Amino acid sequence: MKNKILVTGGAGYIGTHTCIALHESGYEIVIYDNLSNSSYEAINRVSNLIGQSIEFIEGDIRDAGKLKEIFNLHEFFGVIHFAGLKAVGESVAKPLMYYDNNVSGTITLLAVMAEFGVKNLVFSSSATVYGDPETLPINETSPRSATNPYGQSKLTVEHVLEDLAAADKEWSLITLRYFNPVGAHESGQIGEDPSDIPNNLMPFISQVAVGRRDKLSIFGNDYPTIDGTGVRDYIHVTDLAQGHVAALDHLQQQTHAAGFLPINLGTGRGSSVLELVNAFSKVNKIDIPYQFAARRAGDIASCYASADKAQELLGWQAKLSITNMCEDTWRWQSMNPDGYNTK
Ligand code: NAD
Ligand code: UFG
Repeated sequence: MKNKILVTGGAGYIGTHTCIALHESGYEIVIYDNLSNSSYEAINRVSNLIGQSIEFIEGDIRDAGKLKEIFNLHEFFGVIHFAGLKAVGESVAKPLMYYDNNVSGTITLLAVMAEFGVKNLVFSSSATVYGDPETLPINETSPRSATNPYGQSKLTVEHVLEDLAAADKEWSLITLRYFNPVGAHESGQIGEDPSDIPNNLMPFISQVAVGRRDKLSIFGNDYPTIDGTGVRDYIHVTDLAQGHVAALDHLQQQTHAAGFLPINLGTGRGSSVLELVNAFSKVNKIDIPYQFAARRAGDIASCYASADKAQELLGWQAKLSITNMCEDTWRWQSMNPDGYNTK
């Protein structure tokens, strides 16, 4: 059976963790990444963790010529497509950059896959495609909408994948909608390494803990939630990585193409900002100074997944707890106060 996988964006946060999980499950990996938000050091560390050098090609998903060279060299079972830009604020300021990278880049990749008859894809989508959800927990048939160009780029790619599946029944296009990925590999060797001031909560908390930032601003304490702060479904990146292995295993076992198949990857449990801050302090015995600030534009009160479909179809469910997420984030951050520090 063919088990070679092209991993676009494989040098990034979720990609590196997934490459390790894929290797441990017997998949062969080729990473394709333009290093716009990652580094060689991340790839070196993955090689060290798996005990062999990983095949890496530096390149851009918008470069059809380079992709064709790679598809000519390797017989892939499928592609896991992480490559993309992900900063919501930046997408508002630079929409063309986001649509070009995330939408045009994906179309270029799909066209090359079609040309080479590789029709298995696992795509990184996001809970952001559910906009401001009307009901909780969110399941895969919940209405979709986007509130910013980043979210719109993910939703547009989902529409492209749906149309492609309708037009050609040979495609299997698993669209994984991640909720809030946090945590790091248990070794402390790889983790999330924001190149600027972190937008996301957990990296901000860990940078306060390590002394790179003075205090956390909590955006809003007047939401209709347990304690007034925003509620999200935090999922350990190691569980998320296993979700990708489960998705590929599912495709390997299918006798018919899956078509367009959206699946939530979340824990099914929501935690408030204050609950996460307090858990981090307690687990790691570090005080996290914070202040309440105004709500952040575009934020919603609560968001958490129904993870039933992933369980039923892929036999996957998240195993790791908020305690694991806090411990592993801190191990990575304290062992690497400046991240990979090679950018
Ligand atoms: P990341 O930035 O760490 O990883 C993305 C990788 O893609 C980086 O290594 C970057 O260099 C590479 N890349 C970007 N544009 C490229 C291009 N044109 N060609 C080749 N490589 C390119 O981000 P991540 O957190 O690992 O996210 C991976 C995917 O999951 C992204 O598509 C993101 O939108 C999606 N996602 C992330 C989150 C999250 O909170 N981290 C949530 C939902 C969805
Ligand atoms: N928050 C703070 N202070 C901070 C950062 C965040 O209080 O410094 C709060 C937010 O207001 C929110 C919660 O922490 O209530 C989580 O915020 P994140 O930025 O970590 O995550 P979001 O749910 O806002 O966004 C994430 C990704 C988006 C993606 C979305 C849905 O960053 O790209 O999940 O998947 F679109």
